[in-house]
Amino acid sequence: MKKVPSGITPVIPIDKHAPKSLYRQVYEGYRKAIMDGGVRPGQRVPSTRVLAQELGISRIPVLSAYAQLLAEGYFESRVGSGTVVSRSLPNRAAAGQPMNGATAKSDSRRRQLSKRCLVLASRRDFHNRRGVGPFVGSQIAADQFPLQIWNSLVTRHSRGMQARALDYGDPTGLKELREAIAAHLRTARGVHCETEQILITSGSQQGLEVTARVLLDEGDRVWMEEPGYIFARSVFAFAGCRMVPVPVDEEGLNVAIGVKKCRDARAVLVTPSHQYPLGVTMSASRRLQLLDWAESRGAWIIEDDYDSEYRYESMPVTSLQGLDGNSRVVYIGTFSKVLFPSLRLGYVVIPADLADRFLAVRFAMDISPATFYQAVVADFIREGHFSRHIRRMRALYSERRGALIESLKKEFGATAEIIGAQAGMHLAVVLKGIPDREIAERAAAQGLCLVPLSPFYMEEALQQGFILGFASTPAEEVPAAVRKLKALVNSKAVLAAHA
Ligand SMILES: Cc1ncc(COP(=O)(O)O)c(C=O)c1O
Repeated sequence: MKKVPSGITPVIPIDKHAPKSLYRQVYEGYRKAIMDGGVRPGQRVPSTRVLAQELGISRIPVLSAYAQLLAEGYFESRVGSGTVVSRSLPNRAAAGQPMNGATAKSDSRRRQLSKRCLVLASRRDFHNRRGVGPFVGSQIAADQFPLQIWNSLVTRHSRGMQARALDYGDPTGLKELREAIAAHLRTARGVHCETEQILITSGSQQGLEVTARVLLDEGDRVWMEEPGYIFARSVFAFAGCRMVPVPVDEEGLNVAIGVKKCRDARAVLVTPSHQYPLGVTMSASRRLQLLDWAESRGAWIIEDDYDSEYRYESMPVTSLQGLDGNSRVVYIGTFSKVLFPSLRLGYVVIPADLADRFLAVRFAMDISPATFYQAVVADFIREGHFSRHIRRMRALYSERRGALIESLKKEFGATAEIIGAQAGMHLAVVLKGIPDREIAERAAAQGLCLVPLSPFYMEEALQQGFILGFASTPAEEVPAAVRKLKALVNSKAVLAAHA
């Protein structure tokens, strides 16, 4: 006979000295758990033996309580599938029984939250609104990922897993992965680093979070690229920093304006290889100005190098960290673009003298990164699949990018300015004076996911347009998508609403 798994034991308060019988306590405890929604219809109940053991009582009162619950229809029993909470009972949770706290009166004195958490925007709809479609940013060509190789590595690691792999991992990350990353960064990105300087994180987002906690205090001023990466802003807002928007032009962050606005900022966040969202590459002179400013003011440079493995018209540009002779740069990278974002693996290259503080902060946050997928990625890199995949995707994305540029030129001509297409997985199309947010909303209603440019500005948006991802759309599907975009931009309703 098939063995039926035992269910989870609910919280049933038992008082052996109470005048109420143990049978009655179990019966009432279970019934209350069902009525409160802690145990739901269809949920398996533990065996009488397990429940008796966990409650520390004999099996007899449990048997009697179960018999009563069965007789009254709270439980049902089927041969082969064990005893479950009756499926015919109304699901009180699904029927709108409130979640804990959902009806709490909004007396702000009694339900006081941290000021820090209140500065963050709501993200309830983040996942639902991400959408799919021809222009979705940060979307890889998922159907081209070498899943067969990946799956065989996952199988190899799960089959070969040994008891010692169950312990906490190294808080800085798996050594084999850190070695592989350090070698990749030294060679492909010109980063000056040793294995000991690499800290594995949950995506670059956690890399930013750790970095902010190590380097910055509440009230510190931080230069932010304007327009800039919205998710990074939440990290600095959360840390209580005051953000100073510094404009980006065709040479990248304008250092002179930054100095004029706030010479004594404590740090700057930059995306020098492929500015997010405009896509420009920071010029050599701006890089040197930035490094000089940081050294002269004792400021930190946080370099987010998120997608520069993909460069189409020239070799990848060297990282800013590689130019830095004063250990002022904290370099952050991610596997979200070159592998896939659900992996949640990124890394920080830490100035050697700060390793201990980064480690202490990382430890305080989540002790250590999960080890399993680190081992898989380490082998993926060491066995050559990583560099092969990047080469393949570079060629594919280059073709898709070419198709997008050609279609944009054909449909929009001189009315659209295409910028930032030389690298990465997105470009920016600037369309003068259009209501980009409204167009994006209208597009969503038609199943087209567009990322408007104006929300990336902290102050008044100086440019309007869209950030168009091109990595996930086959070249042959691009012309129709661009025609749809053009129809939306030219739609009378949108123009009239904006007039
Ligand atoms: C500027 C920038 N940095 C980093 C990332 C990647 O973040 P994560 O590694 O947390 O997935 C993205 C993703 O779109 C990005 O646009």
